[in-house]
Formats: sequence, structure tokens, C-alpha cells
Amino acid sequence: MQKLKGQRALVTGASSGIGKAVALELGRAGADVLVNYRSGDDMANEVAAQIASFGVRALVHRADVSKEADVVPMFERMAAELGGIDILVNNAGLQKDADFHDMTLDQWNTVISVNLTGQFLCSREAIRLFRRQGMRPEVSKAMGKIVCISSVHEVIPWAGHVNYAASKGGVMLMMKSIAQEYASQRIRVNSICPGAIRTPINAGAWDTEESYNALMRLVPYKRIGEPEDIGKAAVWLASDDSDYVTGASIFVDGGMLLYPGFENGG
Ligand code: BGC
Repeated sequence: MQKLKGQRALVTGASSGIGKAVALELGRAGADVLVNYRSGDDMANEVAAQIASFGVRALVHRADVSKEADVVPMFERMAAELGGIDILVNNAGLQKDADFHDMTLDQWNTVISVNLTGQFLCSREAIRLFRRQGMRPEVSKAMGKIVCISSVHEVIPWAGHVNYAASKGGVMLMMKSIAQEYASQRIRVNSICPGAIRTPINAGAWDTEESYNALMRLVPYKRIGEPEDIGKAAVWLASDDSDYVTGASIFVDGGMLLYPGFENGG
């Protein structure tokens, strides 16, 4: 059964990693999908072709989510070509790691702009469009759904990644505050907080046996997450199966949040 049949989804940063898996799972569940990306036309086109093979519509749209002048036309295109939006997945994100005493303002600003301001701009445009189009009871009990891709680092402090942890901590309260503001209008807003997932952003943490074993000390479930683990959670949060869930941070992390250092001690 296609749980998202007839719905229109926009996924940011969807040409690779978690965004790609989310876009594919939404398409497999029956949604039309706009694949947003910032660079790498071939990869985005390939994702769109795979989505189209599920018998739904797929568009690619290049835009930098941190730029209002890019984001606004992207949502206009969503309205013009897919007829509107039912699901936004705020996925685009990056890391610019540095020791804090060496962190440049540019490294700080780039991470906050993409990871936090990008989610603000896209969420605002989505909510404007949800409100303009109104309820669509034939496809969903909610007027619209936003899924923010946050991180375990919305709560776990992260030395050497202060800009990234600050951006995700910001996503947490942005998400919850938007959820509170729009719940009465039947707009649901939630986050998925991935732990260590096998994607390019953290290749250094899993691509050698040594780094993988070190990573597993932080993962009670003793396997790395796969992008599909996040894609499936996104389908659930976007569907009516989670209709009573709003303002929640759902941790998909193999137990990374369970103080793994205490497994054998304390
Ligand atoms: C980061 C990854 C990291 C993971 C667990 C994610 O949010 O992007 O680089 O491996 O958190 O620490």
C-alpha cells in the first residue's frame, strides 16, 4: 500500500546521503518528489530517475537553501509544477569542523546558514504554501507535515564541531516552536535525529576497520546506520500513521544516546 499516494514532497539536499534515501523512500511510498540539490546535476538527475521508476513524478531543482532568493522560487516551482506541497523534509546540511580556538567566522556562518537558516527559510515557505492551499482530506489528515533532519548532536555536545552542534541545537527548538505555533492548524512538525549513518559526511568515521571499530564503541546496537533507516522513519513521520505526533525528536541512532560509556561501568 502506498501511504503517501497523491502527496507532494520536497526534500532538500536530496542528491546524496540521507536526503537521497529519504527522497527515494517517499517516492516508493507514492509521493511526487522535488529533489533539491546544490551541486552535482548528474547525481540529482539519477535520484529523480529512480524516483520516477516508482510511477510518481520527480523534479530536480538546484537551490542553495541558505539563500532566500533561491528558496522562494523553488517553492513557487513546487506550486506551479506539482500543484502544491504536503511534505517538506529539511535535510540539507554540512559540517565545517575545526578546533574551537581556530574556528573562523566563515566556518561558523556557513554551518549556521545552511543547517539552521536553511531550515527556517524552507519551513516558512512550506507553511505559507500549506496555509494557502488548505486541507486536502483526500490525501492526509494533516494540512501539512515538516520533517527536520537534526542529529543526535541536538543534545550531545560535540567537541571540535561546535558550529554543527549549535546549529542542531537550534533546529531542535526551532522545530518545537513551529510545531507549537501551528499545531492548531493541523500542521505537524517533527525531527529525525540520526546517529552515525553511512554517508559521505562522516566517511572518516567508518571507512576503515579501525575507525569503524572505534565508532562502534559509541553505538550500543553495534552496527552503523544505513540511509534507508532514516528514509523509513521519514515516511512514517510524513504519513497519517504518525498523525498524533508533533514536536517530537525521534532518535534513529542505534542507542547512541544511551550513554554507551556506561555499558560496562559506572
Ligand atoms: C554527524 C556525523 C556523526 C554523527 C554521530 C551526525 O549528525 O553529521 O558526522 O558521525 O552525527 O556523531
